[in-house]
Amino acid sequence: MCGIVGYVGDKQAVDFLLEGLSKLEYRGYDSAGIAVYDGAKIRVEKSVGRLAALRDKIKDDVPQGTIGIGHTRWATHGRPSDVNAHPHTDCTGDFVVVHNGIIENYLTLKEDLIEKGHSFKSETDTEIVAHLLEEVWNGDFEASVREVLRRIEGSYSLVFMCKREPDKLICTKQDNPLVIGIGEGENFIASDIPAIIKRTRRTYILNDGELAVVTKDAIRITNRKGEPVTKKVFEVNWNAEAAEKGGYEHFMLKEINEQPKAVRDTMSQRIAKDGKCITMDELKWDADYLNSFNQIYIVACGTAYHAGLVGKYYIERLVRVPVQVDVASEFRYRDPIIDEHTLFIVVSQSGETSDTLAALKESKRRGAKTLALTNVVGSSIAREADQVIYTWAGPEIAVASTKAYTTQLILFFMLALYMAQIKKTVTPERIAELIAALKQVPAQISETLSDTEPIKTFAKQYGFNDDVFYIGRGLDYDVALEGALKLKEISYIHAEAYAAGELKHGTLALIVEGVPVIALATQKSVYEKTLSNIKEVKARDAVVIGIAAEGDEELQKYVDHVMKVPETDELLLPILAVVPLQLLAYYAAITRGCDVDKPRNLAKSVTVE
Ligand code: G6P
Repeated sequence: MCGIVGYVGDKQAVDFLLEGLSKLEYRGYDSAGIAVYDGAKIRVEKSVGRLAALRDKIKDDVPQGTIGIGHTRWATHGRPSDVNAHPHTDCTGDFVVVHNGIIENYLTLKEDLIEKGHSFKSETDTEIVAHLLEEVWNGDFEASVREVLRRIEGSYSLVFMCKREPDKLICTKQDNPLVIGIGEGENFIASDIPAIIKRTRRTYILNDGELAVVTKDAIRITNRKGEPVTKKVFEVNWNAEAAEKGGYEHFMLKEINEQPKAVRDTMSQRIAKDGKCITMDELKWDADYLNSFNQIYIVACGTAYHAGLVGKYYIERLVRVPVQVDVASEFRYRDPIIDEHTLFIVVSQSGETSDTLAALKESKRRGAKTLALTNVVGSSIAREADQVIYTWAGPEIAVASTKAYTTQLILFFMLALYMAQIKKTVTPERIAELIAALKQVPAQISETLSDTEPIKTFAKQYGFNDDVFYIGRGLDYDVALEGALKLKEISYIHAEAYAAGELKHGTLALIVEGVPVIALATQKSVYEKTLSNIKEVKARDAVVIGIAAEGDEELQKYVDHVMKVPETDELLLPILAVVPLQLLAYYAAITRGCDVDKPRNLAKSVTVE
């Protein structure tokens, strides 16, 4: 997983390359590099570490030239190092390439190229692409690239430079994203829109197998067979500031605070004017189609998986269809029982997660009908699924997902209501009641965000503990899982979530004096049961922070501190209860001096297996 950029125009390439890479560091940041044609040769500069290390390396001797490519890396094949950083070159230095993805047959190709006399500098799979281009070179850049593509297998987005035709970049993609920004007298290439949005809003989003030859004045796109492709210009309608921090210290905090808007945007066009039913014009489902499903699968990774757990609860409760939830990396290898009567739902903020995409393809192969919930229009998952519904959360840059999660919950809730309307599993009165409650959620999140002082205090108090436990039942347990994930991924505190009723089957042995336990008790239907679990941990002298809905005067009698969220229907409480947990993780990470937006070893979008 990596971010790639390219520039060709009249200006100094290095300016865009570094600016673009800085916007793509969320895709990987263990090393960075650029290549610029200076009129005589292609100069390559790279450095292990963040982009800042590369900037520092070239500051006294900036590469000069108006065409170039760049890369920010998240290591897969070969550890992070200067030599493994991209761009990669062939033996002559005439052919240079940046790559996002994995070349699966690289070992066979490498052995063959070594036999033919090529010498390799790095441990990467990518370097073979440059040598292969040198090997198959037939005097024509585009034709030679096509020959390379015939020989490589795997997933990629690639940008090529060639000293022998130095006025153009060639780019292509398979299973990894690539956009081309259309400028005037200049054009841009990038893995994602935030890299180019400052320069242009007019883009082409490449599809798998398409190849673009990009010069300063032209973009020529062809398909695998070399036939011209006429593409629609995709106008980016969010502004540059949306991809920036907007005054917040970190993207994560900004994105936590954007949740009221993200949630409002996600629900706004899907509630009928009279407020009595859900409309999902994007879905082409009639009653017959819906009644043909006898089971639903929800498959995703990370936070999106946690959203899927809540989705299961909503759908089973409101639609009365059995739902299974699975992590994508498990699902794809376990010979699942699905057929044409299965509705297969994938959830993915980025729409690019490799395991989720593979699970989606596998479910289609087995005949399931597929639906994607994603945040990125035109993403691989959006294009692969039969139907798509979007969360309208805007770009999420921080590695730790926040607004994507809450909007996924909103979308699942609305989807369940929509299906319930069609299947008539919930009365119209109850639907109207739930929609009325749903409409309050943005304001209620704002209310939760308005007073963060107690959360900062807890974070300071408990931010240096080695272990934190999260407990809850039902939907509270699902939220506990997400709260624990947030804490561990950004603060590196060991955090575990348990179904409160499971404590006595093992975990209680870990509860000793002073261990912090975050106890969620928002669900009225299991409230008394949760309370007795809280008493169990209190009896072992844990420090308990309870999460309760306003109006609950009981919980505070049994815990050390309480954080309250506004009262609403218990089905909607997860969307509110997760907010203090996101903030707790954020401030704990700040207390510990962690790099909140770029936690160690993690990346925003995992486009390799
Ligand atoms: C990575 C991110 C997580 C995210 C997961 C799934 O692990 O760090 O925040 O939840 O991928 O990503 P997706 O884009 O498919 O939702």
